[in-house]
Amino acid sequence: MIIVLFGPPGAGKGTQSAKLMEKFGIPALSTGDMFRAAIAAETPVGVEVKSVMEAGDLVNDELVNRLVFERLEDPDCQNGVILDGYPRTVAQAEALDVWLQNHHLKLDKVIELKVDDEALIERRAGRLYAPKSKKVYHKDFNPPKVAGICDESGEKLIQRDDDKPDVVRHRLDVYNQQTAPVLGYYLAQQRLVTLDGMANIEDVYQHILQLLGAK
Ligand code: AP5
Ligand code: MG
Repeated sequence: MIIVLFGPPGAGKGTQSAKLMEKFGIPALSTGDMFRAAIAAETPVGVEVKSVMEAGDLVNDELVNRLVFERLEDPDCQNGVILDGYPRTVAQAEALDVWLQNHHLKLDKVIELKVDDEALIERRAGRLYAPKSKKVYHKDFNPPKVAGICDESGEKLIQRDDDKPDVVRHRLDVYNQQTAPVLGYYLAQQRLVTLDGMANIEDVYQHILQLLGAK
């Protein structure tokens, strides 16, 4: 099973992919998490993408594609993968199609989580992130058991640099200009399913399971 979780920043891609990863026992590949880990470890990739990410812009297609394709070759991806935040440009979607064809694979579904701009802003303003475990919380909608601490790793939760108010608007513009056109690409392929991402976390999850025929 290869599925893409698609949607604007704060739509709930990371939240849902964590639940799907647990349910299906396949990895969730978040390009954002890969870059945040590279920045924290100060690898050459991390150094290259730090300022781009902090500004809320997109990392260049070649670099993203290379990292994703390398990761997709790993043994744990052989039974399937959940793609979170990739592809994010039409050029990435085209490159992914070529890679899949060359590996005799196909995308099962592209699931778009549709969420109003106002809710996106509220979600990102309250988001709490655990850099090591990569778990995502929200101070009101999905709070940790102990305030400010990750349930899983016990580490201190932080606010992401790109959730700061001035970057949040810009990320939405980048989504509308550069990422939303990918929807048309998958619509034409009849792989796109759009669902109401405004519902609560559990209802959205149940809806995704239904779409995947897993309920
Ligand atoms: P990335 O990390 O992918 O960020 P994003 O796509 O902007 O999305 P977010 O992670 O902000 O939101 P999400 O949809 O995962 O929502 P979440 O589940 O956290 O990318 C970051 C950066 O990396 C990019 O800006 C770019 O620079 C670079 N990058 C990454 N991929 C790239 C690519 N392919 N090409 C080029 N550059 C790339 O939820 C948000 C909050 O809402 C949480 O607090 C959560 O608890 C809460 N929440 C979730 N669902 C619900 C719900 N149903 N109801 C109420 N609250 C909810
Ligand atoms: Mg995310």
